[in-house]
Amino acid sequence: MIRLSHVSRVYQSAAGEVHALRDVSLEIAPRTFAAVTGPSGCGKSTLLNLLGGLDQPTSGEITVDGLRLDGADDTALTAYRRERLGVVFQFFNLLPSMTAVENVELPLLLSGEKAREARLRAMEMLDLAGLTGRAHAFPHQMSGGEMQRAAVARALVHRPSLLLADEPTGNLDSDNAARVLSLLQKIASQGLATLIIVTHSPEAAAVAHRQIPMIDGRLAA
Ligand SMILES: Nc1ncnc2c1ncn2[C@@H]1O[C@H](COP(=O)(O)OP(=O)(O)OP(=O)(O)O)[C@@H](O)[C@H]1O
Ligand SMILES: [Mg+2]
Repeated sequence: MIRLSHVSRVYQSAAGEVHALRDVSLEIAPRTFAAVTGPSGCGKSTLLNLLGGLDQPTSGEITVDGLRLDGADDTALTAYRRERLGVVFQFFNLLPSMTAVENVELPLLLSGEKAREARLRAMEMLDLAGLTGRAHAFPHQMSGGEMQRAAVARALVHRPSLLLADEPTGNLDSDNAARVLSLLQKIASQGLATLIIVTHSPEAAAVAHRQIPMIDGRLAA
């Protein structure tokens, strides 16, 4: 379970205080597929960064599966990100000098998994993503949608309980966006992780189980 209780995030900027989140309280049940929507600047990325342990609230409490993120120290937050969290970025962020399967297995190798096991698991994830035939392609040989599906496979390879994605289809044409969305739907329907995505796309929001519309740093009614 994910719980935010009276969470606020105030940025100090040259122009004064920016209230990116204002008293947000929210619960998200395990294995929900949630879409955070709303106009530019309403606080979507701020919310995701807090859930990713990349930023701290100015006030309020954030708990993910019993772990308090607000006020947690760097060691705890690093362990949280490494063990429980998968993140997908708008621009895929695959390493260009590595093939798809090498990109996907990398997190496992970095955490000390044996090469053989890592490769098997990475191939399983590429299969889930419909990329078995592209395993040995380099990113520059792949379409945007293929790269993003490989990035999703990489984000899930270590079996995180929470997958965060900020505009995962924001840089894709509609065909590729649809393929990435159907992969996310498959992940949700197999209960592999809780999914929280930020999106401007009505198609993306529509495939989620739950909409979390925001406006001006608050949850919209
Ligand atoms: N590091 C920062 N310093 C100061 N202000 C910031 C910072 N990061 C975000 N903000 C401000 O906080 C508010 C919320 O930003 P956020 O990035 O969460 O919006 P968003 O909903 O993700 O927008 P977009 O759809 O454009 O990505 C905005 O007014 C933004 O300018
Ligand atoms: Mg944003």
